[in-house]
Amino acid sequence: MPSFPASSSFSSFSSFSSFSSFASAYLPRVELTLRQTLASPRLAEGTHYAMMRYHMGWLNEEFRPVQANTGKGIRPLLCLLSCAAVGGDPVIALPAAAALELLHNFSLVHDDVEDNSPTRRHRPTVWALWGRPQAINVGDALFAHAFQSLLNLAPVVPAVQVMETVQRFVHACIALTEGQHLDMGFEARLDVTTDDYLQMIRGKTAALLAASVEMGAGLGGAQTQQLSALHHFGESLGLAFQIQDDILGIWGDEQKTGKSAASDILTRKKSLPVLSALNGPQGAALRSLYARPRLTVDEVPAVLELLEAAGARAHAAALVETYSTAALQALQAARLTAPAGDHLRDLALHLLDRQA
Ligand code: IPE
Ligand code: IPE
Ligand code: MG
Ligand code: MG
Repeated sequence: MPSFPASSSFSSFSSFSSFSSFASAYLPRVELTLRQTLASPRLAEGTHYAMMRYHMGWLNEEFRPVQANTGKGIRPLLCLLSCAAVGGDPVIALPAAAALELLHNFSLVHDDVEDNSPTRRHRPTVWALWGRPQAINVGDALFAHAFQSLLNLAPVVPAVQVMETVQRFVHACIALTEGQHLDMGFEARLDVTTDDYLQMIRGKTAALLAASVEMGAGLGGAQTQQLSALHHFGESLGLAFQIQDDILGIWGDEQKTGKSAASDILTRKKSLPVLSALNGPQGAALRSLYARPRLTVDEVPAVLELLEAAGARAHAAALVETYSTAALQALQAARLTAPAGDHLRDLALHLLDRQA
C-alpha cells in the first residue's frame, strides 16, 4: 500500500507570494504522491504499470524513464488552493489532489479510445500504442488507484470528512460518465441544443473541476456558504474551460495543444463552435456535411470555412467570457483567505487565456 507523504516542511502557506510559486512548490509533491500510488508492486505486472506510467509522462514507449508532458495539473491545484483559501493546510489534501489527477487521467485514456484520438500531450495515446483492450484496462486501473489514493486521507483526516470527500468524488465520477455518454451520442445527432450541450459539458468536465474545489475546501474546513460559492466557481470555470477546449480543438496549434486539430471535426463532435454554426441562420450547408455518417480529412477545410462564415469562434469566445465572469463573481462571494484566494483567481484567469 502506498504511504502517505511525509508531513510538510513548508513554513506556512503565506510564504507563497504567487500562484506560480505555489504551483512550483506543490505540483512536485502531487507527482510524488502519484508515483507512490502507482509504484509497481510485483514484477509480473510491470508492463501494466509501465503503460500507466507512460500515460502519466514518466516513461517513454520503450518503458525507459523520461520527462514528458504530464499535463497542467489543474485539478490538484484547484483542490490544494481551495483547501488553503479556506484556512486549511494543503498538505493534508495531497491524497485527494492525487486522486483527482488519477481520475482525470483515467478519463483521458478512455476518452482517447472513445474519440479515436491518436495523440495526447504530444505523444501517441495508450490505445494507439498497445491497442484498445489494453487502454481500457489501463484506464480502469487508474480509476481504481484514484480511490486507493483517496483512502490515504484516512490516517490524518477524520472519518466523516473522508466520507464527505469520497461522496463528492463519486458524484463527479458518475457525472463524468453521464457527460461522456451524451458527448458520444451527440456525434450522430443534428438536433443538439445549447442546453443539451451545457448539460453534457457540465457532466464531462465541469463536475470534476467543481469537485476539485469542493473536496479541497471541505478538507480545509470551509463553511457551508463558502462551499456553495466555491461549487459555483468550479462549475462555471469548468464550463468556460471546456468551451475554450472546444475552441482549441478546432483552431488550436497542434504544436501547443499536443492533440490533433482535426479530431473533433472528423468525429462530428457537437462542440460549441460547431453547434452555434449548425443552429445559426446559415446552418444548412454545415448540416448537409454533418448529416453524413462520417467526415473525411478532405472535408475539414469546407467545415472550417463554414464555421468562419458563421462567426462560430467569436460566439464560443463570448460564452467563455460569460462563464468566466460568473466564475470570478462566485469566487468573490466565497470570501476566501488571502493569498490563496488570489492565487485561485490567477489560476482561473491563466486557464481562460491558455493556448494548450
Ligand atoms: C483535457 O483536460 C480534457 C478536458 C476536460 C478538456 P486538461 O486540459 O486539464 O488536460 P491536461 O491534464 O492538462 O493534459
Ligand atoms: C473532455 O473530453 C472530458 C473528458 C476527457 C472526460 P474532450 O474529448 O472534449 O477533451 P480532449 O480535447 O480530448 O482533451
Ligand atoms: Mg471526448
Ligand atoms: Mg477527446
